[in-house]
Amino acid sequence: MSVKLILLGPPGSGKGTQGALLGKFYGIPEISTGDMLRQAVAEGSELGKRVQGILTKGQLVPDDVMVSLVEERVSREDCAQGFILDGFPRTVDQARALERVLPGGIDAVVYLRVPREEVIARLAGRLTCRRCGAVYAKTDSSLCQVCGGDLYQRDDDLRSTVEHRLRVYEEHTAPLVGYYRTLDKVREFDGSGPVEEVARRVEAGIARVIA
Ligand code: AP5
Repeated sequence: MSVKLILLGPPGSGKGTQGALLGKFYGIPEISTGDMLRQAVAEGSELGKRVQGILTKGQLVPDDVMVSLVEERVSREDCAQGFILDGFPRTVDQARALERVLPGGIDAVVYLRVPREEVIARLAGRLTCRRCGAVYAKTDSSLCQVCGGDLYQRDDDLRSTVEHRLRVYEEHTAPLVGYYRTLDKVREFDGSGPVEEVARRVEAGIARVIA
């Protein structure tokens, strides 16, 4: 069985959190384009140098860069049984490019709905592992429980940048909900409440799609 899912929702809606759980549940990789870009920045690669300023400002990396990055990633061996895309596509042009790359298409879009004030509060308290990208809500620990790496606050989680990211989301990414609805791919979930409760809702909803 192969499972191909897209996670969609505003910054802070829990795409990374739920993607990691879903990935474990189905035994397939969760592919976070944000993590890939942050890793490129940390490594100081050509890609990292090119995108660093874009990430810090909360703007979008050009479509052609993102499409080749994802095309290469999903062609790897570990994606043979499927994958979960977190953060891609983010524009209608990226969605169209994905259809060209994946002729069989995707199984479903997991759309997480969370009120604006709640995502702002979540991002203000988020800590991210510098080494493995795991995320934490407010915590007293300064070390990652997964890999022992340092926890830090992302540059783009400053309040003013978060507001900008939300505007970018509304303008460029929210239209994807309508785009995928016309293809009957959208499964909408309330992303508020305890993480495990949201995960149960999503797993039950997706089980019906891929049964
Ligand atoms: P990316 O890393 O994808 O950021 P994002 O989409 O803004 O999403 P976030 O990572 O902020 O939030 P999330 O929904 O994953 O929430 P999380 O699970 O962490 O992209 C960053 C940048 O990269 C972009 O701005 C852009 O520049 C660039 N980029 C990436 N992809 C691109 C593309 N395709 N095209 C162009 N540019 C691209 O949860 C948030 C917090 O809430 C955490 O602290 C978590 O612990 C907590 N939390 C989660 N669930 C719950 C819950 N149920 N209750 C309480 N707290 C919760």
